[in-house]
Amino acid sequence: MLPCQFHEIMVNLQYSYRWLKPNTKFVLFGLLYIMMCCTSSEDSESPVEVIDPVDDTVDLVGAALNYRNHCGGCHGQNMSSFVEREWTYGNSFEEMVQSITNGYPDNGMPAYGATFSEQEIQELTDYILSEIDGKTKAMLEEENPDLSGLISSDDLTFRLETITDEIPGVPWGIAQLPNGEILVTERGGSLFLVRNDGQLVEVTNLPDIVSEGQGGLLDVVIHPNFENNSLVYLSYSRANPNNSSELTTAVARAVLNGNSLSQVETIFTALPYLNSGLHYGSRLLFDTDGYLYVSVGDRGQRDVYPQALDNYLGKIHRIQDDGQIPTDNPFYNTQGAVNSIFTYGTRNPQGMSLHPETGAVWEGEHGPQGGDEINLLEAGNNNGWPVISYGLNYDGTSFTDLTALEGMEQPVHYWTPSIAPCGMTFVSGNFYGNWRNDLFVGSLKFEYLHRLKMNGNAVVGHETLLEGIGRVRDAHMGSDGYLYIVVEGPGRLIRLVPEQ
Ligand code: HEC
Repeated sequence: MLPCQFHEIMVNLQYSYRWLKPNTKFVLFGLLYIMMCCTSSEDSESPVEVIDPVDDTVDLVGAALNYRNHCGGCHGQNMSSFVEREWTYGNSFEEMVQSITNGYPDNGMPAYGATFSEQEIQELTDYILSEIDGKTKAMLEEENPDLSGLISSDDLTFRLETITDEIPGVPWGIAQLPNGEILVTERGGSLFLVRNDGQLVEVTNLPDIVSEGQGGLLDVVIHPNFENNSLVYLSYSRANPNNSSELTTAVARAVLNGNSLSQVETIFTALPYLNSGLHYGSRLLFDTDGYLYVSVGDRGQRDVYPQALDNYLGKIHRIQDDGQIPTDNPFYNTQGAVNSIFTYGTRNPQGMSLHPETGAVWEGEHGPQGGDEINLLEAGNNNGWPVISYGLNYDGTSFTDLTALEGMEQPVHYWTPSIAPCGMTFVSGNFYGNWRNDLFVGSLKFEYLHRLKMNGNAVVGHETLLEGIGRVRDAHMGSDGYLYIVVEGPGRLIRLVPEQ
C-alpha cells in the first residue's frame, strides 16, 4: 500500500467518522494503520483492499462500531441525544450499564443484554462517556460538515440554500402553500409558517397534541384545492378523552387564516388508543383523485394489530377530504373490517409519495433491525409485517424465518442494515434533469439523503447525498418545483438548487 493511498483512505475515514473525538480517532486509525502494515509486511503481494468510505461495513472496531450500528440510529451518530442530556435513569457508569442491558422496551429503548457481552456493554458505556465528556450542543453544530459549496451527484451539480436554521426541536413534515410559503411541523407540538424571506411565524390554535416518545405533531399537507378553501391537514398523537395515558394517531383538518387555524376538526382517529409511545406512522398524502392517505404504525405491538383487519394500526388508510370513507375501498364491504383500510401488514410507515407519472402511492417504513422497506401500494395489499420480513429483533434474534409468502407483497426495495427511512419524495418537474422520477429518502440513522435511481417501478441504482447533514425528517417536492428537506440539529429547512 502506497502512503498516498493510505492517506486518502484516512482522509475519507476522518470525514465519515468526524463525530469521533480526535483522540478516539487517533487510537482507531492508528490501530487500522498497524493492521494494514502487518498485512502488507506478511504478504506483500496481497491485493490492496479497497475501503469504500461510505460503505457501512467499513472496519470500525469494538465499541465505536457497535455504537454506529446499534445506537447511533436513535441517539445520533454524533451522540447528540446524550450531549447535555437531562438523564432519566442516570449517567453514572453503573446506571448506564443497567439502562443498556435491560432497556426500556415500552419506551423504545431496546435491551442489549442478549446482544452484547457484559464487557462489550461496559466498553460501550466507557466509549459514550468519554465521547460526550465536555461536549456541548453548540460544539456538535460546529462539527456539521461544510455543505456550502457546489455539490456533485452522479447526474447533477447543485447547491444548498438554507431557508431557515431556526426551527426549534424536531422538524417533522413540510408542505408548501401556493404563495411559496412553507408550513413546517415541529414534533414538540408547534406549527410554523416559513415566510419567503425565511422569517418563522408560529401558527396558533392547533388541536390538543400530546408530544411523547415518537409522537407529537407529525405531518402536514394542504388540500389540493387550497387556493379556494385554505384547508390544511395535520397528523398528530392524541390522547384518549376517557384515559389520558392512552394515545393514538389522529388527523385534524382546519382552515388556515393568516397565522391561525380555525374550524379545527378531528376527521380521523386510529383505534385502539394504546399506552405506547412507539410507531405512530404517520404521513399524509393526497392522490390525484383527491383521496387522502394516512399511514399508521403498529404502535410496537406487531403480533396483535398489523395482520388483523378489525383495527387501524399497522395500516395505510384511504379517506375522503372530510374524513368520510370511500365506498370503493378494498375492505368496505368486508364484515368486521375497518373500512378505511387501503393496505395492511405495515410496521412504522414514516414516508409516502405519489409517483409523478403513474399516480401510484408509494410507502417507506422502518424495519426492526434491518428490513426497512419501500413498497408500491395497491388496494387490498398485505405487505406482510410481521409474518415476512428481512429484519431481525433489536437484540439480534430472529422473529420469522420467512421473507416471502403467497398472498403477501414483496417490497420494491429493502435495506439491511437499516438506514431508518423517514420522509421521502419522488422528484418531478423540469429542474432536476436525470433525477426526475427518482425517489429521495431521508435517513435518520446515517444522516443523509438516499437516492434510489429508478427505471419505471424498478430500482436500478443508488446514491447517498449530503452525508452528515443531520437526521433528515422529510423530503418534499414544492409546488414551486424545488426539492426541499428538513433536518435536525439545528432544525433547518433547506432547498436543493440545481446549478444551470
Ligand atoms: C430504537 C431506538 C433506540 C436504540 C436503537 C437505542 N436506544 Fe437508547 N434509548 C432510546 C429511547 C427512546 C430512550 C429513552 C427511554 C425512556 O426515557 O424511558 C433511550 C434511553 C437510553 C439510555 C438512558 C438515558 C437516560 O436518560 O437515562 C441509555 C444509557 C441508552 N439509551 C443507551 C443506548 C445504547 C448504548 C444503545 C446502543 C447499544 C441504544 N441506547 C440504542 C432509544 C434507543
